[in-house]
Amino acid sequence: MAILTIPDNHIIINNPLEIKQYLSDRGIWFDQWTAGEKFNPDATQDEIISAYAYVLKPFMEANGYKTSDVINIHKDSENLLAIRTKFLAEHTHSEDEVRFFVDGQGYFWFHLEDQDEPIFNVCCQAGDLISVPAGTKHWFDLGPEPFVKAIRVFIDQSGWIPDYTNSGLDQKYNPKYV
Ligand SMILES: [Fe+2]
Repeated sequence: MAILTIPDNHIIINNPLEIKQYLSDRGIWFDQWTAGEKFNPDATQDEIISAYAYVLKPFMEANGYKTSDVINIHKDSENLLAIRTKFLAEHTHSEDEVRFFVDGQGYFWFHLEDQDEPIFNVCCQAGDLISVPAGTKHWFDLGPEPFVKAIRVFIDQSGWIPDYTNSGLDQKYNPKYV
């Protein structure tokens, strides 16, 4: 279950419907699916995608997504520091970034264009489905104990290459455990 936090305003939203509304008002699509499947630590991409094919396939067909894969990160992942660092700097993509979290968690931070909008993050956990719109400034934090399994879907994988803003804003908000 997701948690939305607006640090500068000391606001935390736990109610899924309120989170969905807050994001929807800002053009960010959010939904929740049932994520009851349990996987072994060494579960393959195919096993994870197959387990959710019943919801994933119709969703992909309805929205024009062509391919999917799985990010599977844990504390013993190879190149963990490099992976964290890559996601931790503010960036945009030319394609929507769509993630379905099936285990663990991660924090999407949003920096919207409207100057009046405070920076906020959504802690996504099993069952949460989020789409970061193309061109939206954001970054992703694995949190203090890196562990996440999430299915990614793409129209064209080249659209997911990060375009870094180099604003440095992420460094103001990212905790010091990295
Ligand atoms: Fe991204």
